[in-house]
Formats: sequence, structure tokens, C-alpha cells
Amino acid sequence: MAYIVDLRSDTVTKPTESMKHAMVNSAVGDDVFGEDPTVNALESKVANLLGKQAALFVPSGTMANLIAIMVHCNKRGSEAIVGNLAHIYKYEQGGAAHVAGVLLSTVQNKPDGTFDLQEVENRIRGSDIHEPITSMVAIENTHNVCGGKVLPLQWIDELSELCKRHSIPLHMDGARLLNASAYLEVPAERIVRGCDSVALCFSKGLSAPVGSAIVGSCHFIQQARRMRKMLGGGMRQSGVLAAAAIVALDEIAPKLALDHKRAQRLGKGRLQDTGRRGRNREGDLLQRQDDPPDSAHRDIRQRPLARHYEDHLRVQGARGRASADQLVHTNTRHESWSCMFSSYHSTSIYLYVPLVCDLQIKFVLDRDRKLLFF
Ligand SMILES: Cc1ncc(COP(=O)(O)O)c(C=O)c1O
Repeated sequence: MAYIVDLRSDTVTKPTESMKHAMVNSAVGDDVFGEDPTVNALESKVANLLGKQAALFVPSGTMANLIAIMVHCNKRGSEAIVGNLAHIYKYEQGGAAHVAGVLLSTVQNKPDGTFDLQEVENRIRGSDIHEPITSMVAIENTHNVCGGKVLPLQWIDELSELCKRHSIPLHMDGARLLNASAYLEVPAERIVRGCDSVALCFSKGLSAPVGSAIVGSCHFIQQARRMRKMLGGGMRQSGVLAAAAIVALDEIAPKLALDHKRAQRLGKGRLQDTGRRGRNREGDLLQRQDDPPDSAHRDIRQRPLARHYEDHLRVQGARGRASADQLVHTNTRHESWSCMFSSYHSTSIYLYVPLVCDLQIKFVLDRDRKLLFF
């Protein structure tokens, strides 16, 4: 049995057979008219899952966040407070400013993905006419750049209280909210209880090919629907996509706990790394490749896999390096087993396969070529 392990990101998955089946057989209609039964079913399901009144299916997490910003910050001169390591701030092209005309005001993220509540409170503007209007606070859970960290429930609750005191909506970029839910063993609904809006992705760690949802009150979603149309995100027979997202929720989300277990085993192995080449406590070969990725590739290609790399797995990340304690997500499915390193930064590691999982895996991946050997 050939397994592909690609540790660049939890987005490099492929739709499962059951997703493909659901997509082909989905009932569809024109969703801009609100007539796609599969999209409607997905939206109800997600709203229900998160304990909110309504949801809207959108093409991407970036659009979900942008829509939330546009709805909450609908007065000119608005600002949104976000962590300085937030995806919204770092990786969405400044869409808040670019498209929505909203100022992003940053507070410093701590290593656990939270930020100082006092700093947030100090940052909230008063009625001084010189100042922008603070219209939203956004948090990220799990926190991508902070290594997939799960935000503590109590911290979210306290932040929510603070926001309510100031009548400022709290948005959660919950692209990987279901990972947080699996990790905490707490329903997603509980995690987002104090949030006014939530973005959730089906294409990260859940194997769906496309799609995110934005969730909130009926009034919020009404406005969000307008914004989605304006941004060009109004889709027609999008039930074919929503069908895969439904399968993602029904069949893949329950497997996230297993993903986490595997990631922890992988992380544990990495933490036991004794140097450039050595053995960990279990006696498994464990090598960290410190060479620059390109030279490492050359080196590996010159060696016969059967001899040196049989039963070994090479983990090749995109750029730079991160310690494996930052490694938290994997994605497990029939055809692929992918795993997420913090913010796509990972180093090259060799691991003895049984350390990682019980599967027989014989292959090597490269960030550009995907499958190098097997
Ligand atoms: C935390 C977070 N939010 C939002 C996004 C954006 O999602 P998309 O790539 O679907 O636009 C990502 C993408 O990786 C993410 O990690």
C-alpha cells in the first residue's frame, strides 16, 4: 500500500472517494438565489455546529475574514484590532486596508497565540474625533504562526467579556477551529460562545477541496451575503463543493484526534533528536538534516533509497525551520497523510517510520516535486 506523506501544509490533501461521490451526486440549484439545497444544508449544519443563527458558504478563509471585517467595520474610519502574527494581518495582503478601507491595529501575540488583554483594552479608542473607530477584535484559533496553538478557553471568554463591555464585536478566524475542538475535547460551539462571528475552513486538515464558512447572527449573515456578492464570491451550483464540505464535517472531522496523536508522536521523535545523526530513546534512527534544503536534496538523490532510506521518511518543509514542538496538525485519510508545521516552516528530518505511525511508508517527498522516491 503506498501512502503519501506531505508535511508542507494541511491544505495539500485531496478529496476522499466519498467526497467525490457526494459531489457527483449532490442536488444543486442557483445559490445566489438561495436555491442550492446542498449549500443550504451545509450552512444549517455549520450554524448548528457552532451554535450560531446562520452561516454562509464562501470560497476561502481569506474571503471569510474579509467579509467579517467589512460587516463589522462598516463605518468609514474603522479599525480592527488583531494580533501582530494573525493570518489576517500577515497573509491576507492587507485586504482589510486594500479592499475594505479598514485600519488594522496590532497587539503583540504571545507564543501561545493569545495577547495581553490590558493591551487590547488600552488600544480601544474612545470618542476623540482624532482617532479611528475601533469596530472589531479578531483572534485566531488554532493560531497558525504560533505553531497551531489552541487558545485557552478562559482567555477567549475574558476577551469576549472585555469586547462586550466596549460593545465591540469579536471575530474568530477559526480556519482550524475543529482542531482546537478535538484538542480540547470541547464542542466547537463552546469555544466560539463568546464570539460574534467565526470563519471556519473545510479545506484545511479536513480534505475538502474548496470552501469556508462564515458564521454569526442572522443579521450579520444577511450583511455578509451582500459583501460576498460584491467580492465576486456569489457562486451558482456550488452544492457540488458544499457536498464535499459536508463529508469533511461528517467523516474527516472526527478523525482529527487521531491526526493529533500522530503529530504528537512525530513531534516527540523530533524533540528526542540527539543531534545531526543519532538514535532516540527507542533506538530508532533519527536524523535532522541541517543542510540547506537544496544540498540535502542532491545528497539524497545520489543515494539508493532501498539501502539508506528504506522504511524512512523524509520530511521536507517549505522554508526555514521550526522545532517539532510547533508541529500540531496532521491530516489522515486513505490516500494521504499530511501534517502541518507551524506556518509552513519546517526543517528536514529523517524519522524511522514506526516512530511516526504504524503504516508501512516508503517514500520521500520534496516541496516542489512532491514524490521523490518510494
Ligand atoms: C489561520 C488562517 N486563516 C485564514 C486562512 C486563509 O484561508 P484560505 O487559504 O482558504 O484563503 C489561512 C490559510 O492558511 C489560515 O491559516
